[in-house]
Amino acid sequence: MPPSCIESLMLPVKTVKWVGDADGVLDLLDQRLLPQRVERLQCQTPQQVYEAIRTLAVRGAPAIGVAAAYGVCLALRNKPEETPLAEAKTLVAQTTLHLASSRPTAVNLFAALNRMKAVVQTSPPCTAQFKQRLLDEAHAINQQEQDNCQTIGRCGAPLVPDGKAVLTHCNAGALATTGIGTALAPFYIARQQHKRFTVYADETRPLLQGARLTAWELTQAGIETVVICDSMAAALMQAGRIQAVFVGADRIAANGDTANKIGTLGLSILARHYDIPFYVAAPSSTFDRSLPDGAAIPIEQRNGNEIRRFNDTLITPSQAETWNPAFDVTSAQYITAFITEHGILRPPFAESIAQTIPQQTDQHDKRESYE
Ligand code: MRU
Repeated sequence: MPPSCIESLMLPVKTVKWVGDADGVLDLLDQRLLPQRVERLQCQTPQQVYEAIRTLAVRGAPAIGVAAAYGVCLALRNKPEETPLAEAKTLVAQTTLHLASSRPTAVNLFAALNRMKAVVQTSPPCTAQFKQRLLDEAHAINQQEQDNCQTIGRCGAPLVPDGKAVLTHCNAGALATTGIGTALAPFYIARQQHKRFTVYADETRPLLQGARLTAWELTQAGIETVVICDSMAAALMQAGRIQAVFVGADRIAANGDTANKIGTLGLSILARHYDIPFYVAAPSSTFDRSLPDGAAIPIEQRNGNEIRRFNDTLITPSQAETWNPAFDVTSAQYITAFITEHGILRPPFAESIAQTIPQQTDQHDKRESYE
């Protein structure tokens, strides 16, 4: 597939884009405003990137990893060449730590920051070259995630049933990555292969990533899309209207337990009940082999106002308590297969993951330093 695949698939925009040289800026599609407004957000400082990740202007596991990597580059933006190398390295190390505290669940964030931290350990001759090496590494992470999306799409396309319908949850598409997505990538490739199918998109309360984002990018790509409220998935399955479920992931433990957007667990149990295949699509940067199972995956708790308010209107009594975990953990037993850039992984997952997904040498460090 040519590098212009995003354009050829008619996906609307680039989610994460670096503009310029080592003193450039990070240009993000502001996903908080979609689908009403297509506006971009220019980040010139790591703090702006931190805020963009925290407030979900940029979101989705691979996309926040890439955005954070570029955020590290911004630590040295416009720093003069004569800045002492030691000072520049300290600043970068502090910035990686700060960006790591933006969101806790998606392991791609920590994997990307660890790669940037590794650049600090190299010995560039001067600050100018250090800046360039950081940018090269961020570009490499970006490119790798794009390539992974393509391969995941090609691996997963045969699993998309021709003439039938599938269900997805949250947004694991182009908007959540820097390529054509993970869970949505097989749909884009299957579409190029002239398969015809319908995608049901859960609206994904409370922040509506399915209704706002998945429906936006799929319809732009000419894929037939039906939005449902999250509570309708069971009836949809009972009625025999979908033949497979495709979701993304934020972190996958060594045994296959998978953290993804809140609501994924319920779907997986329903899919098992109705004997519907349940696929998780994710690049190897989403696997965390240092965790034996899902119990240790940190789950982000978000502000209760995301539940209390709908489009800025209070929909609960203001004194009502809320519980707002952003993710849940689907037990590996409910997962039919993982679609990765290394191929399709089938149970028993402890073995297929260990045999296929490279153990990152810095995996221990990932948890030690940030969590
Ligand atoms: O809170 P979000 O919108 O960042 O949650 C995103 C998801 O849960 C996605 O399914 C996951 O990150 C995979 S993205 C390819």
